[in-house]
Amino acid sequence: MLDPCQLDAWDRDGFLVLTGFADPADCAELVARAEAIVAAFDAATISVFSTSEQTRTSDEWFLSSGGEVRCFFEEDAFDGAGRLVVPKERAINKIGHAQHDLDPVFDRFTRTPVLAAVAADLGFGDPLLVQSMSIFKQPRIGGEVGCHQDAAFLFTDPPSVVGFWFALEDAIVDNGCLWAEPGGHRGPLRQRFLRVGPTDADGTRFEPLDATPLPEPGAAGALVPLEAPAGTLVVLHGLLPHWSGPNRSDRSRHAYSVHVIEGGADYPDNNWLRRPPELPLRGF
Ligand code: FE2
Repeated sequence: MLDPCQLDAWDRDGFLVLTGFADPADCAELVARAEAIVAAFDAATISVFSTSEQTRTSDEWFLSSGGEVRCFFEEDAFDGAGRLVVPKERAINKIGHAQHDLDPVFDRFTRTPVLAAVAADLGFGDPLLVQSMSIFKQPRIGGEVGCHQDAAFLFTDPPSVVGFWFALEDAIVDNGCLWAEPGGHRGPLRQRFLRVGPTDADGTRFEPLDATPLPEPGAAGALVPLEAPAGTLVVLHGLLPHWSGPNRSDRSRHAYSVHVIEGGADYPDNNWLRRPPELPLRGF
């Protein structure tokens, strides 16, 4: 699937931008399916947050989502009493984290022979699809995602996570495309995002591992924009520093990402994402 030139670029840069990878009709179907999931979501499910309980309850909503299909909202979407202050279809930040296993439309989009072939070309022997996210990046209010390495969130020993990020709509600088640091995947893992304790109520923390700063966003910095027309697959090495800007435009920027880890690598218990025993990780 990948030619020697692309494999060289992967080793050199830590990312690939594969335009025309996904069929436009399939991208549109995935956007429609994500919108239908949001439309069917009863905001009352999470509007029980009181101010004092909000952090704990939202931690639990997040930490128990590894085997669920759940909606996550922009930070400012709720008032102090836990009521949505804008319509939910405009307040949604993302859907996660197991729609690739639980939703037939997402499953079909994700488990394709061509994506399996890309994973094999990148060296996966036993790829496991650990997480999926539908990212909305709403017009005008979609926020930035700070510079990070995906291996901080999906840690394996040895490191193995790779992100497959699909532009379902055109992603350009103005609507908050990805930016990445070419070659930055050869740097160290800076931190890990950990569960503090055994239960979903215990919350999370960041554990520093290396003081090397991550690159700062900005025109003069080390990050370059990865503009991607709809249908593009962007592949991101798990150690690659990347960032996405806010969406200041009036164009939405739907994206879908799925993360893959190597089945033979150790996946520590204190990773934030856990799957219930009845929903074990699967490959392509
Ligand atoms: Fe990421």
